[in-house]
Amino acid sequence: MNSSEILLDVKNVAKSYGHVEAVKDVSFRVGKGRVVALLGDNGAGKSTLISLLSGVVKPDKGSLIWEGSPITLSSPQEAQAIGVATLFQNLALVDELSIARNMFLGREDAVTKGWGPFKRLDQKKLRQETEKAVAAMGLRLRSADDRVTALSGGQRQSVAISCAIHFSAKLLILDEPTAALSIRQQEQVLETIRNVRDRGVSVIFITHNIHHVKPVADDIVVLRGGKSIANFPIGEADPEHVSALIRGNEDPRH
Ligand SMILES: Nc1ncnc2c1ncn2[C@@H]1O[C@H](COP(=O)(O)OP(=O)(O)OP(=O)(O)O)[C@@H](O)[C@H]1O
Ligand SMILES: [Mg+2]
Repeated sequence: MNSSEILLDVKNVAKSYGHVEAVKDVSFRVGKGRVVALLGDNGAGKSTLISLLSGVVKPDKGSLIWEGSPITLSSPQEAQAIGVATLFQNLALVDELSIARNMFLGREDAVTKGWGPFKRLDQKKLRQETEKAVAAMGLRLRSADDRVTALSGGQRQSVAISCAIHFSAKLLILDEPTAALSIRQQEQVLETIRNVRDRGVSVIFITHNIHHVKPVADDIVVLRGGKSIANFPIGEADPEHVSALIRGNEDPRH
């Protein structure tokens, strides 16, 4: 990859919690408009790495290079401001609110009308913008005014993705987005991810199962014991080999 094609370069990052080295030494690159599968078993350091990339915690060592310049992320707001959108597992949407309200949660200023004491939510704009954004991701909704509880698991995840990238995200980070879904619902989410990528947004897809990500992945990164131990394009990935690397079994090719 030529340097202008790289969105994020993660270089030798490490993070300990007390005596636990959750992430010891992780390096990989995220190309613009590419889907990077980040694979690892329980305790491999996946969630810690997401926290590092989302401004939740700071690395003890190593650096993050964003569009060619070193960055430090001191808060989730700072990460969001440069274009990092993160969907943490199970926390993406608020059940009690409509799909449209979820879409603009914390960004209500984008859909208000009136002025001063007369300022209020523009319900029509809220609904229309939400339906447009969701349709662009290949998803049909009955109504954006429906509560999130009316959605299937796959639709829910796709709506959460649409919400996350709506405000000019450059990188979307997904933590096990298909883990609890049926095959058909998984397919819905994968289709949404393809649409995200087609807009030029890069994706980091975290999972412990190569089969969940294989249909959309461009690149594979394997984490084990807090280290990135393998990194290759999907074309060179044999699922059995990758699964063995994740589990820490001996390399089956040798
Ligand atoms: N806040 C914390 N305090 C102490 N130890 C932590 C903390 N967060 C993670 N760890 C430890 O760091 C290691 C890596 O954890 P992490 O949650 O990043 O792994 P993971 O790959 O996300 O695992 P899982 O698949 O189970 O979600 C584990 O040994 C974990 O117990
Ligand atoms: Mg985790």
